[in-house]
Amino acid sequence: MVPRIPRSHTAPAAHTAAAAPLESPLVKDRDAGSMQRQLYDRLKRAILDGGLAPGSRLPGSRALAESLAISRNTVTATYEHLAAEGYVQPDRQGTRVTELSAPTPAPTPRSRTGTAPVAAAPVTAKRLASIRPSASRADADAALRPGVPALSHFPFAAWRGALDRAIRGAGAAALGYGDPLGEPPLRAAIARHLSVARGVRCEPRQVVIAEGAQEAITLCVRLLSNPGDTGWVEDPGYRGVKAAMHAGDLRVVPLRVDAEGLCASAQDWRRHPPRLVYTTPSHQYPTGAVLGIARRLELIARAREHGAWIIEDDYDSEFRHTGEPIGAMQGLVDDAPVLYVGTFSKTMFPSLRLGFVVLPAHLVASVQSPLEEMLRGGHRYEQLAMADFIESGQFSRHLGRMRRLYRDRQLALRLALHKHLKVPHEIEGGYCGLHLTVRLPERFDDRKIAAEALRHRIAPSALSGFAMQPLPTDNGLVLGYGNTSAELFEPLVKRLSQLARACERS
Ligand SMILES: Cc1ncc(COP(=O)(O)O)c(C=O)c1O
Repeated sequence: MVPRIPRSHTAPAAHTAAAAPLESPLVKDRDAGSMQRQLYDRLKRAILDGGLAPGSRLPGSRALAESLAISRNTVTATYEHLAAEGYVQPDRQGTRVTELSAPTPAPTPRSRTGTAPVAAAPVTAKRLASIRPSASRADADAALRPGVPALSHFPFAAWRGALDRAIRGAGAAALGYGDPLGEPPLRAAIARHLSVARGVRCEPRQVVIAEGAQEAITLCVRLLSNPGDTGWVEDPGYRGVKAAMHAGDLRVVPLRVDAEGLCASAQDWRRHPPRLVYTTPSHQYPTGAVLGIARRLELIARAREHGAWIIEDDYDSEFRHTGEPIGAMQGLVDDAPVLYVGTFSKTMFPSLRLGFVVLPAHLVASVQSPLEEMLRGGHRYEQLAMADFIESGQFSRHLGRMRRLYRDRQLALRLALHKHLKVPHEIEGGYCGLHLTVRLPERFDDRKIAAEALRHRIAPSALSGFAMQPLPTDNGLVLGYGNTSAELFEPLVKRLSQLARACERS
């Protein structure tokens, strides 16, 4: 129950408000705000903290205007504003302070002396405790940060042209709400691009635009699972999916990843059958493993048997540096129980915040109208510009240029590691995307190395930080080569080598 202001604080109805808050002159200075603003703030504060007692009467507008040397209009406008917000009520005799409930006092923290402990209720949802913080996000420009594309190579002029065309073409109409599931031209362009580039089978109506892959994964969790369901994640694996599943109150079960990607045994299916299975089959994050075809088919078959859904996160496999592109799981068999998630964060730039999920065709009818209520669309010009960028062929040209750049960078990083990393190590992955992983023996403390490296503006991620149940072998550094020039690799690796030696456990 909301406590009432104690009776002793209320003045008799006919009593005129205490003069103190009304006497001192207002400040004639532009920085202090208008006279009306100052008077309003002063009266409101006095009403809320009891300086003007509930039920008391404010002075007449003429009298107050004279005593403060301001215009009477200013006072009447202020009284009207306070009345509109309910702080005062005009009646036949003038303006009376409303009887308000006193604000509930904020809980005082437990005192240092140990007295007066306060049983403070938890402020945030309990589920937040399961979401572990990741490494520092500060210093976004630090070298070797995983997951960042080559920002300085972005074709600004071409993108500006596409944005201009989108704004001119759509005009003011696109300032309004659009299709909550995304701009139709972008959904169509993505469907066409995916079928050619990734072997994804879909129609535009299956494509739902989201604010990046992270939001697309969150949508999958919301649409397809209930609190208490089980979600499988890769271990080590992408941290964002754990956060999305925890936020959906799922029981998150980590499954090991080996050289062929996610390992799901018959026992796993029996013991903790999942509702959702998250995987990065074409380029496991962060180890770089590729899920073999036998495991892909097995996963699809078991998921069908158990009524589970697979979330295929295809975040960076447009950039394959050796051999043929690895096709998506989604297109492997008809009606696979796969939600294919993609993003433009790596192919374009992360702040674009455009990603998508391709829904299985038979799911569209049942989720369409809930999705229309849950989403609001937005970023319409960017979406239209992205559609133009894809359809005009500029996206493919940009991808081609970036593929060559990243291939050269990953080769240069391998060479630098080979020459200058003077501690035992094994390089994994790197044949795709924007990062590679260097495994180190357990005696080198990967978190400490990563923390020390940050002081030198180098931002590798510690491999152990990606695991929910780390094994001693989950130790090493994930190095992003996307946004760091190749000529810097040698000095950077030399520095990492020194840091690794300094962080050797005795
Ligand atoms: C494996 C993986 N999935 C998804 C994402 C999220 O990407 P987005 O920026 O599109 O939300 C990332 C980001 O780095 C990632 O590494």
